Amino acid sequence: MKPYKRAITYGTFDLFHMGHLRLFERIKEIAEELVVAVSSDAFNAIKGKICVIPFEDRKHIIAALRVVDQVIDENSWEQKIEDIQKLGCDLFVMGDDWKGEFDFLTPYCHVLYLPRTEGVSSSEIKASIQK
Ligand code: CTP
Repeated sequence: MKPYKRAITYGTFDLFHMGHLRLFERIKEIAEELVVAVSSDAFNAIKGKICVIPFEDRKHIIAALRVVDQVIDENSWEQKIEDIQKLGCDLFVMGDDWKGEFDFLTPYCHVLYLPRTEGVSSSEIKASIQK
């Protein structure tokens, strides 16, 4: 038995890379199920992010992964509490670039920040292609 029943994580996951996969794999080591909320293109615009890979394709790639059990849309900053309650999540995980940002979710589930995988990010991949 793993310590958590159902984990949830949120992100853009553009140009899907090892940092994203390692995050999912590490969550899956401690949680029976993993729900991934993928930021829509409209929500990315609010966040000031422009994606190379369209929303439906980013979702499709993530849904095809063995370590992922469910994919949902992320359309706003405010939806997290409702998602956690509706889906019955007992663990919320983000990379540690978000450390402290989501501590307000602790009344609803355990909140965990995992160390980012070093040396890879969507922005760095974009920058290296544009050179
Ligand atoms: N992440 C990670 N290790 C990396 C890159 C990302 O653990 N090397 C995690 C982030 O901490 C976040 C999730 O993956 O919890 C989604 O991150 P996202 O912003 O989509 O990926 P980045 O590669 O960080 O994208 P960007 O460069 O656009 O910020």
